[in-house]
Amino acid sequence: MLNESLQPIKEINLKSTSTTGRKEQHVDLVVGEQVNFHAVTNGLECYRFEHNALPEIDLDEIETKTEFLGKHLAAPLVISSMTGGYADAERINRALAEAAEAYGFAIGIGSARQAMEDATFRKSYSVMRSVAPKTFIFSNIGAVEIARLAKVGEITKLRSIIELVHADALAIHLNPLQELMQPEGGKDFRGVLVGIEKAVKELGLPIIVKEVGAGISRGVAKQLIEVGVRVIDVAGAGGTSWAGVEILRHAEDDRTWLDPFWDWGIPTADCIKEIAPLTRVHGCSLIASGGITNGLEVAKSLALGADLAGIARPIITAFMEKGETGLRTFIDHILFQLRGAMFLTGSRDVKALKAQPLIVAG
Ligand SMILES: Cc1cc2nc3c(=O)[nH]c(=O)nc-3n(C[C@H](O)[C@H](O)[C@H](O)COP(=O)(O)O)c2cc1C
Repeated sequence: MLNESLQPIKEINLKSTSTTGRKEQHVDLVVGEQVNFHAVTNGLECYRFEHNALPEIDLDEIETKTEFLGKHLAAPLVISSMTGGYADAERINRALAEAAEAYGFAIGIGSARQAMEDATFRKSYSVMRSVAPKTFIFSNIGAVEIARLAKVGEITKLRSIIELVHADALAIHLNPLQELMQPEGGKDFRGVLVGIEKAVKELGLPIIVKEVGAGISRGVAKQLIEVGVRVIDVAGAGGTSWAGVEILRHAEDDRTWLDPFWDWGIPTADCIKEIAPLTRVHGCSLIASGGITNGLEVAKSLALGADLAGIARPIITAFMEKGETGLRTFIDHILFQLRGAMFLTGSRDVKALKAQPLIVAG
């Protein structure tokens, strides 16, 4: 696997370090290169449902709808935060948001820091609300930026990226591993929790806190809930390795000594199991994401304690490789698999699915 990751990356300008250039490189890398974890999995393969040979339901009567922060979703699914802030991002975000609106999923925009820095590509974000008027859309900003804005007393500046998409919530991503591996990454994580607390108090909309593929521990979840965070998206290990993506942005000579961090993180299933009892007691929502690739994994995540499941790279890859038809086919398959798991466990609705016991696969 190491050798595979050390292949030279063609046609990607690794020298470009502006926010705009980086966002474009990220999409090129996740779609064109092997950026999955090498050996760590999302952990969901450790669980299985008990097969129900007498489900006594009609597949057609299965209901996947659910509520999320007071809004109706047709299925417990989120298109995770991805892109924005460069020319082609407008085309991508339009297609993703149109799909979210058509299927009734929630959707996140990619980090909108670029839109705070410069107005050139604002439409690459705002297009999402214009094509998805009814969709639950959340804006997105990084931990380092939150800490910086809090330090200078400017948290309310984030209102501009909330208004940009008339967002229903703001997601703050915690990405210390990614920043550590990123050639130009921010390495000062002091003041992030204080910044999150200020965002909760000053912005007047729900705050979602997410990782980007290294997971959130029970201890961190507890700290977040204590400062008023309503939704935690675990974005655990086992899918896209953001250490991997950033390692591939380094010169070839440096990739070998950075490689031990490629598989760093807490597997998604472990995060869900650890955090679900906390979110349940405190009336918060839990999103399972990080390496979710099919509807059976969505179903297992819900039975483990999550309220929704999020998918990032497989969604953007389906679109970039096969266009809108490929994207919609991928989503149709996910929904078939989710409904299939509900059928085979006799779960008429999401509430029943969440109550299904999971067997630890031996
Ligand atoms: C192309 C791409 C860009 C991303 N950009 C962001 C971002 O700007 N903000 C963020 O919170 N997460 C970002 N992520 C991380 C995803 O939201 C997600 O947490 C992570 O990729 C793990 O999910 P996956 O295994 O389904 O890809 C990005 C993911 C992809 C694939």
